[in-house]
Amino acid sequence: MAKINFGGTEENVVTREEFPLEKAREVLKDEVIAVIGYGVQGPGQALNLKDNGFNVIVGQRQDSKTWDKAVADGWEPGKTLFPIEEALDKGTIIQYLLSDAGQISVWPTVQKYLKPGKALYFSHGFGATYKERTGIIPPKDVDVILVAPKGSGTSLRRMFLEGRGLNSSYAIFQDATGKAKDRVVALGIGVGSGYLFETTFQREVYSDLTGERGTLMGAIQGIFAAQYEVLRKNGHSPSEAFNETVEELTQSLMPLVAENGMDWMYANCSTTAQRGALDWWKKFRDATLPVFSDLYSEVAKGNEAQRSIDSNSQSDYRVKLEAELTELRESEMWRAGAAVRQLRPENDKK
Ligand SMILES: NC(=O)c1ccc[n+]([C@@H]2O[C@H](COP(=O)([O-])OP(=O)(O)OC[C@H]3O[C@@H](n4cnc5c(N)ncnc54)[C@H](OP(=O)(O)O)[C@@H]3O)[C@@H](O)[C@H]2O)c1
Repeated sequence: MAKINFGGTEENVVTREEFPLEKAREVLKDEVIAVIGYGVQGPGQALNLKDNGFNVIVGQRQDSKTWDKAVADGWEPGKTLFPIEEALDKGTIIQYLLSDAGQISVWPTVQKYLKPGKALYFSHGFGATYKERTGIIPPKDVDVILVAPKGSGTSLRRMFLEGRGLNSSYAIFQDATGKAKDRVVALGIGVGSGYLFETTFQREVYSDLTGERGTLMGAIQGIFAAQYEVLRKNGHSPSEAFNETVEELTQSLMPLVAENGMDWMYANCSTTAQRGALDWWKKFRDATLPVFSDLYSEVAKGNEAQRSIDSNSQSDYRVKLEAELTELRESEMWRAGAAVRQLRPENDKK
């Protein structure tokens, strides 16, 4: 465990240097890791664990295209791929990677297989934190642990194949065996994390729900839409408005900010851009702060979790979702975006 200073605050992190793969393999050598669910995180984590030399099986319901996807990825029915109940029975570590709504409905089945000494692993603090709403209350004699990769399962796999790693948080909800810490860190290294930082189930879910509703996905689309609308209302063409709102950000600026930080970005743009950005960023902060405070409070009260549970468990959820996504896709801004993407030089040959 290394203490790292993050902007003045010391935090414990685990790196791959201090907890190498060989150590993780040693810790988990007698375990059967059952990855339950093969949606987005399932494939990323299961394939990385397999390639890293761990004993891993996949549990997936059979009457589903997802089963075929697992077979196509090389999981062998009856050997490394099983219906959910069989995998739950065989696993000593249950990586519960169904969708959060799926976790609620399959929970009564999972409970039957949580024999003393097993570990129940999540990649989100949702189910256990909002237990009054989800009914997910693990028995006292199993370890309950979390590794939450800070990104999509697709990125987790892609970065692993490139020899890189996605950072993850880890947490222990319940240590029944005395081995929870070793188990969780070994799994975090095994699934291909960059470095691991410590959290709690509650903090993981509060920050995650805030982040995805905020700057990662909700707020960013809101800000894009507002700026695009103002530019269009003032007579700018869709191409100009889209380039100034989205394309330049995603293609040029964000990779540089990721590499060097925002002060570097401000220092390495035109002096005109620099002056404007420095003068305006605090205005945007002040304008959005009340919305972020409201968002966090809705998350902490459990209202956001309840809204997700209610909407995701409706039988016509996918149909309604498609309607909402179509609205975004068909908006002028994102239709302009599709045209701009098509015009990128790398698409010339397509
Ligand atoms: N998406 C990410 O990259 C990401 C990132 C960080 C953390 N997480 C967390 O990781 C966990 C898994 O998320 P995910 O996005 O990978 O989930 P997902 O893609 O939505 O999961 C789909 C999986 O759940 C199964 N499933 C759903 N409902 C089911 C039910 N009622 N009965 C049986 N199986 C059911 C699906 O099977 P079928 O295909 O047969 O329906 C599929 O295997 C969640 O806790 C999530 O919060 C996800």
